[in-house]
Amino acid sequence: VQQAIAVLDSGVGGLTVLKEIMRQLPRESILYFGDTARAPYGPRPAEEVVQFTCEIVDYLQQFRPKMIVIACNTATAVALQVVQDRVDVPVVGVIRPGARAAVGRSKSGVIGVIGTEGTIGSGAYEKALHQLSPRLQVISIACPAFVPLVEAGNFHSEHTREIVAAALSPFQSEQMDCLILGCTHYPFLADAISDVIGPKVSLINSAEETAREISAILQNRRELAGSEEIPMLQLLCSGKTEPFQTIAYEWLDGQIRSNPVVWRVPQFSAT
Ligand code: DGL
Repeated sequence: VQQAIAVLDSGVGGLTVLKEIMRQLPRESILYFGDTARAPYGPRPAEEVVQFTCEIVDYLQQFRPKMIVIACNTATAVALQVVQDRVDVPVVGVIRPGARAAVGRSKSGVIGVIGTEGTIGSGAYEKALHQLSPRLQVISIACPAFVPLVEAGNFHSEHTREIVAAALSPFQSEQMDCLILGCTHYPFLADAISDVIGPKVSLINSAEETAREISAILQNRRELAGSEEIPMLQLLCSGKTEPFQTIAYEWLDGQIRSNPVVWRVPQFSAT
């Protein structure tokens, strides 16, 4: 039986990472878990996000995944190390790949980061960036208004532009040449963000970089799915199957190869 890559997220946001993994690694079987009953994680205290992430990882163990991907930036920021210590398969988060891409791209050494309150408050991106290049200047801003906008499907309206412009107004640095979209939802706002921040700033999409890292690790371990295997996609969530199912169809559009199985997993307490 082919082993799957398990991808977990606080809810629907990680579907952007799932989509990118499916695009880059179309042969892989993937099991996606969205903790829709307890999303969003962004405003929650770190200990709670660690606890929820560990519960999901323990639950996913029964499927014997060959790798675990923490697609949620907030969960990666506070729980990556804990999860790596907990399981014996590779665990990939979304922060280091995004940081690496930004360091590779930036010429000025001034990098912006946007994310949830939890991600920005943790300082995880600064830490990852400074590990790669200690002299970088990092400017981080939490954008708590963005996730609700995306979940409402509001990507391009004037209202969205105004909210994006207000949130990004503290970025005054002329030198900043890269902006890391440090949240699963933000790629949907890329046009609005680009309009506001200007064409000289490259937007770094962590999802693309993470998929590259997953591919490199599996290749190294000789664990890439073979051509004879039939890829399976399973989508699980902790809350109601709607609107999860509808959003999954919309966001993954052409990428759904087989009918996804959507199960409800009721054992987590909704808090
Ligand atoms: N998945 C989260 C992240 O990437 C955004 C949504 C949430 O706050 O749960 O940080």
